[in-house]
Amino acid sequence: MNSSYYAIASPTSGIAISHYPPLGWKGSHYPDLAPNADLLNGFKQKKFDVEDYNKIYHQQLDKLDPKKVWSDLYALANGAEPTLLCFEKPKAQLAVTGYEPHPCDPNLWFCHRRLVAQWLESSLNKTVPETFREKPGLKHLGFIRSGLNDLKSWCRTQQPTEKPTASSYARGRFEKWYEHEFKLTMPVEILPAEHDERIYQLGQRLYPGNHSCLFLHYLPGIGILPHRDHTASEAWVVSVNIGAPVVFRHGDDVYQLEDGQVAGFDSKQIHSLDPVPQERWALSWRCIKPEHLNRQLTLFN
Ligand SMILES: [Fe+2]
Repeated sequence: MNSSYYAIASPTSGIAISHYPPLGWKGSHYPDLAPNADLLNGFKQKKFDVEDYNKIYHQQLDKLDPKKVWSDLYALANGAEPTLLCFEKPKAQLAVTGYEPHPCDPNLWFCHRRLVAQWLESSLNKTVPETFREKPGLKHLGFIRSGLNDLKSWCRTQQPTEKPTASSYARGRFEKWYEHEFKLTMPVEILPAEHDERIYQLGQRLYPGNHSCLFLHYLPGIGILPHRDHTASEAWVVSVNIGAPVVFRHGDDVYQLEDGQVAGFDSKQIHSLDPVPQERWALSWRCIKPEHLNRQLTLFN
């Protein structure tokens, strides 16, 4: 079990323990651990200081059975490690150092999830650390501006040699591999693919050391359903969106990608593309995991 704050939390394993969860919260709520309305309002109206809050809130906790609370929280976490959630964000320096001051020190950080965490730790001899994980979302890397029209012309020239995708998640899409191709077999087969010097050079600038480029062609109305990328590649993928603005969904986040936008993302997180409004292409570069790359090398030596 750990604790964190809503802004970076997952609704799958996160359990809201604030009096009111955030608007639209889709995860579990465990109101027994929420400070009651009198305590919350008294604190907001400065009737109580943090020492009072700590004392009154512990009176509330002491009415609960920590063993039952522990097992309730695990039952709510859908098989994952439960994360106790409230609103307060730790100070930036704490996220870097991991140093935890006393949760009642208002100059540093004050939140009741750490009071719950420490109550569980001391009652049950467990560890409930704060997690400082950054949201894994999409990282905007820049735009291709000069040369974008040339790149679109190049995309159009691929049409005679692109192939319908084998993936059932993107019916109607066309694709073509460069440098290395992944065959979706078990175990995965990695085959040498076509080389295009210009695309290779662009890929090495945007994602140095990558092993493979997948060229994608979407006609209007075609998208890709929520999926994770193949396990044979490393998680990080760098992609250029070409031809139309598109809606890209990654985890719980939604991004509009512009024509020419370059972005990197964790391809092992669930992601999808809404049906595109106009013809759209993408180039996406990835690294092959060393065990597959080595296997491929021995096959071809
Ligand atoms: Fe993908």
